Parts: sequence; structure tokens; C-alpha cells
Amino acid sequence: MDCAVYGFSESAPFAAAFATELGVPFFDVAVRRFPDGESLVRVEPAGRIAILYRSLDDPNSKLVELLLAASALRDNGALRVILIAPYLAYMRQDMAFNSGEAVSQRAIGTLLQSWFDAVLSVDPHLHRVASLHEIMPTIPARSISAAPALSAALAGMDAPILVGPDSESRQWVEAIAAPLSLDVLVGEKTRNGDRDVAIVIPGIEKVAGRHTVLVDDVISSGQTLAVAAQLLKRAGAGQIEALATHCLAHDADLARLAQSDIARVRSAQTVPGPTATIGIASLLAGEIAAQGWLGKVWNYNE
Ligand code: R5P
Repeated sequence: MDCAVYGFSESAPFAAAFATELGVPFFDVAVRRFPDGESLVRVEPAGRIAILYRSLDDPNSKLVELLLAASALRDNGALRVILIAPYLAYMRQDMAFNSGEAVSQRAIGTLLQSWFDAVLSVDPHLHRVASLHEIMPTIPARSISAAPALSAALAGMDAPILVGPDSESRQWVEAIAAPLSLDVLVGEKTRNGDRDVAIVIPGIEKVAGRHTVLVDDVISSGQTLAVAAQLLKRAGAGQIEALATHCLAHDADLARLAQSDIARVRSAQTVPGPTATIGIASLLAGEIAAQGWLGKVWNYNE
């Protein structure tokens, strides 16, 4: 066996789908949790290239097991360990906004590049840096966009209007709208607290009577979408839906979203959960092939 995909239980179906797209075997990473909170990780014997698949939502509990699995894979035969983290955590804190704060993005990037030979992620929330390469300069670190999959999920709808709730969402909403030539509006958001946002949407009158799809990269508390949906409803929008790359919302926030003016929330299968219905396995496999990470491009010993 030359290459295999290894996945943790919470995202095993997504990791297995990715392995199928890639045409390589899939194995579970076995994790046993001890009463004291430590984990024992066990992997099957590895081929030369091991692809470890785990999204890093809820990162504080997932990171240590990820590093233990990478270590076990090397101990069991892997010459190269590639990380696929469809959701990459800690990318938003890219500077110390207040004195004494950790620059989390740099710390996590440094950690991951010391443990993995290559990293692939999906739409990481980068603001002041242009690419993952700047965060992990010593290894190949790439990201792809889920936009083609999200765009495909809208195909067949009767020309909905897409709305990004804030200026950062412009890149995603425009990329999703372009292949289908859909109309786009982009709002301005002021964040006053973790669950307190104010939004204005210039040109909102255009949604009157129209099927409207809110688009964002991340859903955390869901407040951004709920507040934007309220504005759209007041402006006379028809059915309102939401589409996101990463849905990180926990059950209570999802329940609140279900009570909002949004009829349906869908997200890419980067983070497991009830909204994650849009597959990205073929996009990930396509990028691995395009990068040649499974070929002999690396100077590893055979
Ligand atoms: C922020 O810049 C992101 O693009 C999302 O708009 C944000 O993370 C959503 O957070 P929440 O769901 O808590 O409003």
C-alpha cells in the first residue's frame, strides 16, 4: 500500500468519501479516552504517504489527538504525512489586537508545519495575510474554495439573489454567484460583541418578492445570518435561505437559527453537523492530484 486516508470518527463518512474520490483505502483512527481526559490513539500500519483527515473545529480538544495520530503514522511506516483540515482553526487571530494577546494564527501555523509535510484546507478565514503559505512557509500549504460546490447547490433554483452580510463575505458571494450570473448584494456589519451585530444592506429593496440566499464563510453563533434575515424579511424578500462554507454552530444556536426568518441552512461538508449537506470530496481530491502530492515530486526515500 502506497497511500491511505486516515480519519477520526466524527468525520469518517467525509474522509471515506474523499478516499474513494482519490482511489485509495480509508482507515479509522482509533481513539480511546481515559477517565483523566488523556487519549490513546492507534493507527493501522501506514503506506509511504499517509493523509490524515480532520477538521479543526473545536480545536482545543482535537489538536492533541491529531498530533498523536501523525506521530503514530510516522512510527508505523509513513514517510510523508499530509494534513487535510477542511476547517482550519485559529486563523482569525492574525495579530495581537490588544497588548499581551497571542497571535494564534502564527502559533498554530508554526505547530502544524512542524508536524506535517503538507497541509490542505478549505476557505480559511484569512484577513491580513493572502495565503496559507505565509502562515506555513516551510511546507506546501494550500487552500481551495468551496465556491464551486456551493454554486452547484444553487443550480436549478429560479435565479435567487445572493446577499453577503458583510464586506468580508464579498469574495465568497461573488465567487458563488459568478458561474450562475446571479445578482449580488453585500452588507456592512458592525460587531458589538460575540452575539451582537448590526448590519446594513445597501440596495436591500432589490430583494422584494425574490428568493434570497444569504452567503457567508462561517456560521458561529448564527447571529450574523439571523440579523441579516430579519432585515431581508422586512424588505419583503420571498423565501430566505442560507449557504455557508463552515457551520460551527452548536445545537442551541442551530435551534435559534431554526426559529429565525431563514427557511433552510446548508453548509459544505467541512464540519460535520445537520447543515453539512454539500460534498467537497471531489474538490479536495482534485487539488491533491493537481499538486502531485501522491506522486514522486517529493524527494522521499523509497
Ligand atoms: C466573520 O467575519 C465571518 O465571516 C462570519 O460572518 C462570522 O464568523 C459569523 O459569526 P456569527 O455566526 O457568530 O455571527
